[in-house]
Amino acid sequence: MKETYNALINTQEFASQIHPQLKLVSKPSTEFVPQVLNRSIASILKAGVTKRDIEEEDPFFVCDLGEVARQHAQWKRLLPRVQPFYAVKCNPDPAEIQLALDAGVDSSRIIYANPCKQASHIKFASSKNVNVMTFDNADELYKIKMVAPESQLVLRILTDDSKSVCRFGVKFGASLSIVPYLLETAKSLNLDVIGISFHVGSGCFDATSFTDAVELARKAFDIGEALGFNFTLLDIGGGFPGNNPEGLQFKDIAALLGPTIDRLFPPHIRVISEPGRYFVSSAFTLAVNIQARRVVSLDAEGNPTDPTHDENPSFMYYINDGMYGSFNCITFDHAVVKMKPLCRSGTFMYEQEHSLKLFESSVWGPTCDSIDLIGRNIFLPEMKIGDWLSCSHMGAYTIAAASTFNGFKKSNVIYTDTN
Ligand SMILES: Cc1ncc(COP(=O)(O)O)c(C=O)c1O
Repeated sequence: MKETYNALINTQEFASQIHPQLKLVSKPSTEFVPQVLNRSIASILKAGVTKRDIEEEDPFFVCDLGEVARQHAQWKRLLPRVQPFYAVKCNPDPAEIQLALDAGVDSSRIIYANPCKQASHIKFASSKNVNVMTFDNADELYKIKMVAPESQLVLRILTDDSKSVCRFGVKFGASLSIVPYLLETAKSLNLDVIGISFHVGSGCFDATSFTDAVELARKAFDIGEALGFNFTLLDIGGGFPGNNPEGLQFKDIAALLGPTIDRLFPPHIRVISEPGRYFVSSAFTLAVNIQARRVVSLDAEGNPTDPTHDENPSFMYYINDGMYGSFNCITFDHAVVKMKPLCRSGTFMYEQEHSLKLFESSVWGPTCDSIDLIGRNIFLPEMKIGDWLSCSHMGAYTIAAASTFNGFKKSNVIYTDTN
């Protein structure tokens, strides 16, 4: 059995497992700690793509653990009251509950945050002393009562997710109007409800979603208190943006959220969060190799014609990672990926300006499926078989859901620490 399923782990411990400079809470098993280089992303990419060996054409990620640590430091600086619990599902590299436990993360620092769980998984979590878990419906309470009655429960409420790229409200979250019924049910079952959680949706692009949700959580706290519960935990979920110069910035969320939490929740209430994307998005850069290409040339009537006489052909590139692999983020996470030339005829081009002529291109994954199309209308200089492309910000919801469909391996990860 693969264990388990929407685990959220205290990031201080998670980060310490993968980042030696962060304080180690307990000793990790040696298997868990990847070999970590101390080189720039550019130098690793360069070494990886300028090898001439045919065996070395596999796609690979460079994961900068320093970036994860910097994001953690930023969180601590801008939202010091909120303890982040990393959302393992976002990039379980290399952790799930069992792996986190194996790595020495204390079970008290793990939250099982899927409100609709399989009974045997609840049992497993409980057997490992992972006792804090979320719920948002009465049937879940009856199930928990049967298999793990000692659990400490967190009621996930429904908040406005309309300003997020990935909305969760249709699937999870109890609306405020049924909070009394759920809490009364919990009470009648003698279950311990310790607080309230929410998730504004992943890829949130409006800071007020967080503050509005905190206001709603306050109302849920008040209902709980009126019913005799003594809530001690507020979990403000995930949805925080990765480190990307475009779009909503974490600092702007923190500037609104911190004071709102302080205004509505007294200091003895423990406040935690469940960020996923925030930590890993910018830490992963993907390098992919062009394994095949097709030059497309059409005459005035739109019929295929001899490309050697066309000064403006378009190109179809076939690369060795695709929609069934790391680029599943395009389907499942609504990600917009930007392909850039990385190495062209042996010339390394990472983060370099160029004035090469651009051609309309489409980029395809390696499988035999036509749905394996990463993007059309991408403007790239002419690339050849064996050249490399790169994509930055490929850490969130990429390898986490990648498959080996059609026999293609998942991209390797090379770790570095640029701190
Ligand atoms: C329960 C839960 N918590 C946290 C997260 C992390 O969300 P994000 O990556 O948007 O921070 C998710 C992911 O979607 C989730 O389902």
